[in-house]
Amino acid sequence: MARRRVGAAITEDRRGSGGPAPLVIVSNRGPKDFVWKDGEWIPSSASGGLVSMLAPLARRPDVRWFCCVSEPPDAKRAAAGLFTTEDDQTGGPLPVTPVLLPSPVYHAYYGLISNEILWMLQHHLLNPNVLPSLDAERHRAWRDGYLAANATVADSIKKCCPTARAFLLQDYHLYPLPALLRRSFPDTPILHFTHIPFPEPSLMRLLPKDWRETILRGLLGADVVGLQTQGDARAFLSCCAELLGTPVDSEASEVEAEDGRRVLVRVYPASVDPDEVAETMASEAVKLARPWVHGLMGDLSIVRVDRADPSKNQVIGFKAFERLLDLRPDLRSRLRFSAFLVPSRTDLKIYRSCTEAIYQTIGEINSRFAAECGRAPIDVFYTNDRNQALAAMEDCDVLLVNSLQDGMNLVAKEWALVSTRPGVLVVSETAGVAEAAMGTGLLVSPLDLEGTAVAMSKALDMPSAERAVRLSAFRNRVSQWTAKDWLSAQLADLGV
Ligand code: F6P
Repeated sequence: MARRRVGAAITEDRRGSGGPAPLVIVSNRGPKDFVWKDGEWIPSSASGGLVSMLAPLARRPDVRWFCCVSEPPDAKRAAAGLFTTEDDQTGGPLPVTPVLLPSPVYHAYYGLISNEILWMLQHHLLNPNVLPSLDAERHRAWRDGYLAANATVADSIKKCCPTARAFLLQDYHLYPLPALLRRSFPDTPILHFTHIPFPEPSLMRLLPKDWRETILRGLLGADVVGLQTQGDARAFLSCCAELLGTPVDSEASEVEAEDGRRVLVRVYPASVDPDEVAETMASEAVKLARPWVHGLMGDLSIVRVDRADPSKNQVIGFKAFERLLDLRPDLRSRLRFSAFLVPSRTDLKIYRSCTEAIYQTIGEINSRFAAECGRAPIDVFYTNDRNQALAAMEDCDVLLVNSLQDGMNLVAKEWALVSTRPGVLVVSETAGVAEAAMGTGLLVSPLDLEGTAVAMSKALDMPSAERAVRLSAFRNRVSQWTAKDWLSAQLADLGV
């Protein structure tokens, strides 16, 4: 295979600054998120996985961060969903360049394709019983939304950064981007990292041929394709071989792109920053949250923290809790479930239905057991207050992560760092984090409601000494591969 040199000499910035050309991060989401405060959503530094892993790099003076923002949508859409605008993302400490997309383009790119199709496909949820088929409107959304947004991002980067030292491109929103940038930056190292599970060829075949080929060819514009797990890397290699017919060297984990370049396929499991987590745990905000959060949690507690998303499988999780209360009457007066439910993608019907189904399930369980438990056993907090969630994770007996599919699940890794009780992790085998949790957490199959109830029961009965041994083994693994390692391994593979 032809070899292309990754990370050649440091390019100079042709904008006249005289400094080195910037290292460019590109992601859909910018560094600001929204928190619900005093009856309204306020933009504030995001605490989610992607942003927390990239922010340390973004603080360096030679880094630029491009993200997508929407022109304010019409009143109806604005009322239905959270959207982020130029003003939300700029003005902070990080060097952000928002790429402005017309509201219908943003909705088609982010909502109709990235989230309703690619997210669902990659979490094994693309199913005509739940989601619409790929009709003419969806094809329009692909062309005039997803492809158009990627082209606009590429143009905006070319305009603002005539030279770049390297590109770090993030996630499924931007699959076509590596190939688009390759045309204008033939020698600049490019890495694309996918944060969510990568589909096997049989799943990928659910997409029209031209869509899946655009996705794969887009990714092969990079020098390095980064994925969360070995399984994701195998899936990507198989897709290239089976769906594009490109030569693949499985042993070396490399693909030969159509222009003869050698593309490395590498695994970088996402992780957390123990120093940042320790700092947050010592913060005033967590101190303030502790007393009332711990007060709510009762003698024994189960906690979950996730976005309201069909892939997170909350309904089966709550039904497993109900089954646990059926199986274990002795727990009814002592056990509480605290659910930190983060609002997500609320402009999409499937997300609103998912939230409704979660609330309905919680309502049914709470009314069924309120009398015997002495009060409603499930508390739900529909917000994205990370400080409250961390305070709860610190003191819980069980952290439940029963996602149907999950790229990694950084909540489980944060829990490993903050748990003091000590608690036990009950985790889905199909979450990327399951590999690191192997032998320490209790693994469950996500559809197995009965098995999940039994695992929670076992976790609650587990003696403290055994919990401590398991937790410490998991914590060591998390501390040995942090967000810094995730990033530096990528920069090393790019040679920058
Ligand atoms: O980790 C996967 C991911 O889609 C990120 O790209 C994203 O920032 C995060 O989940 C949350 O999703 P969203 O930005 O759509 O709220």
